[in-house]
Amino acid sequence: MSVYIVMVAAECAPAAKSGGLGDVVAGLSRELEIRGNAVEVILPKYSGLHYSEIWGLAPSHEDLWVPWYAGAVRCTVWFGYANGRKCFFIEPHSAANLFGRERLYGYADDAERFAFFSKAALEFMGQAGKRPDIVHCHDWQAGLVPVLLREQYGAVLAEQKICYTIHNFRHQGTSDEHVLWATQLGRPDHFLDADRLGDDFRYRGLNPMKGGIVYADFVTTVSPSHADEALYGDGGSGLGRILKEHQAKFRGVLNGVDYEVWNPESDPLVPARYSAGTAERKQADKEALRDRFWLRKTRSPLVAYIGRLDEQKGMHLVHHALFYTLDLGGQFVLMGDAHHHDRINGHFWHLKDYLNDNPDCHLELGYREELAHLIYAGADLLIVPSMFEPCGLAPLIAMRYGTVPVVRATGGMIDTVFDRDYSGRPPAERNGYVFHHTDNRAVESALGRALRLWSARPPEFRELAANCMRADYSWARPGAEYLDIYRGIRHA
Ligand code: GLC
Repeated sequence: MSVYIVMVAAECAPAAKSGGLGDVVAGLSRELEIRGNAVEVILPKYSGLHYSEIWGLAPSHEDLWVPWYAGAVRCTVWFGYANGRKCFFIEPHSAANLFGRERLYGYADDAERFAFFSKAALEFMGQAGKRPDIVHCHDWQAGLVPVLLREQYGAVLAEQKICYTIHNFRHQGTSDEHVLWATQLGRPDHFLDADRLGDDFRYRGLNPMKGGIVYADFVTTVSPSHADEALYGDGGSGLGRILKEHQAKFRGVLNGVDYEVWNPESDPLVPARYSAGTAERKQADKEALRDRFWLRKTRSPLVAYIGRLDEQKGMHLVHHALFYTLDLGGQFVLMGDAHHHDRINGHFWHLKDYLNDNPDCHLELGYREELAHLIYAGADLLIVPSMFEPCGLAPLIAMRYGTVPVVRATGGMIDTVFDRDYSGRPPAERNGYVFHHTDNRAVESALGRALRLWSARPPEFRELAANCMRADYSWARPGAEYLDIYRGIRHA
């Protein structure tokens, strides 16, 4: 039986993306469509959308009036295809200029911006006659969707079931009761109760992520291990208690990777294409990467870091991994964006300046998707020393390109990367190097073993890389799991 799903999210790659959220919304939607389901995605119409990636963009609803504070805001809803996905973009016409800004997030009124977006998405579904089987919303930005749907749109959207996926517990969007007045929910004493939207750690704080957990029919996070960390450790960033209350409807579902986008056999963004059987061609991509960044060509292993430059990602350990690699005669390439963090941004600009003339290292500050492809293909190892990592897509992409991940055992990386020397798995399933602690010596223990294997035992390193390429982290399995969840809540 085919299912009709409307996704509500702040990102969908390639139209709008700041991190893994955008990839996951796009990849899951595509997989669900391949399996014969109908998917539509509702997004804000940021002025920073990647317009060149959106096909046939045109207004589809001119006069959507969304109730807001004591009045209403007029919106235009646009429609277009982003990488084949059907996307609706909500553009409010108000003096607050909610989405006509340079960045997606990082503004003082973020809570209000996305409360508006959540309400507008429901108003749009109501007025446009959209009656999906499932409303699937993502992260704190859409946390109010389940709340508003049940509290205000219950009569119009009575049959709709709601799945809520949390990609990052660290960002909960907590603000205060003005959001209740803005959305016309009102009744602060009722809604700010600790078992509804009331934040456990901020007096009179309103926590939209908590609201999503309480009101959704099913809640997921992006790996089984992270679900455990959220329930039993501090992975829930304070939401552990409420998750335990709602444990019966909570589960970890491992993300997939869109193997259409990330495929070394057909990737138009890498000069030499290869598969597990022709992995020796990867060497040509390594040379191309060195050419691109003016790295010298010697026989040495190349270690990469790709990702947001953010406390979550273990910046002090990335820093150490860079110098440790250089010390052991390797090369290091880093690419990432530190947009929101002046201190981290400053640190890496300083470092880039300091290492400017080093022929074994390159820092690319700012994220560029097409360069990411070349780096995944050209590197031998990928370091991911995160403090916490709900899923971690970078190691999964790396493996697809035969690039061996060196990761900290946290969240989704516990479920996906198995240490070559110490894992209890059969040798053919071992696919990387794992460390546990958050200090320099921990990084060295894993990265050192990886670099030594590369230098001293090339055939064994190649075998490890082949194990990586054989692993299946496509959307096939998680796609089926989400359909199972949808089926379950529809027939509950
Ligand atoms: C967030 C998490 C990351 C996860 C991604 C997609 O960015 O930090 O671990 O892979 O969402 O779910």
